[in-house]
Amino acid sequence: MGPTQWSDALKLGIDEIDQQHRKLLSLIDELNEAMRQGKGKDILGKITTELDSYTKYHFKSEERLFSNCGFPEAVSHKKIHDDFVQKVTGFKKDFDSGKLGVATDILLFLNNWLINHIKGLDKKYVPFVTEKCAK
Ligand code: FEO
Repeated sequence: MGPTQWSDALKLGIDEIDQQHRKLLSLIDELNEAMRQGKGKDILGKITTELDSYTKYHFKSEERLFSNCGFPEAVSHKKIHDDFVQKVTGFKKDFDSGKLGVATDILLFLNNWLINHIKGLDKKYVPFVTEKCAK
């Protein structure tokens, strides 16, 4: 993971969602960097909590968009979101209970999952959503 995971290849062209994706990737980077620098539990805990809550916030925004636009694949997309939320929440729980031996591996997994999700499934909803609910 580098300092900047964002690239134009991840852009959906929906400003609100692009900003949220950018923020999520930067939180993962921030956490990774803080761990690498051996930052204290307080700082790591604060970023982990923010990552957990911002992930939920982002998925809710996307799901609201699906609902407003009548996106037909909303249910299956939400199921995939829910599985990821479980992973992030599990990560947070492990952190809270002091079990973070493989933290870097987990962060890499979260990072790659998010990039693949944005490039894959998220990109697929753009034509439908922009046609039905173009701003
Ligand atoms: Fe941007 Fe489907 O998460």
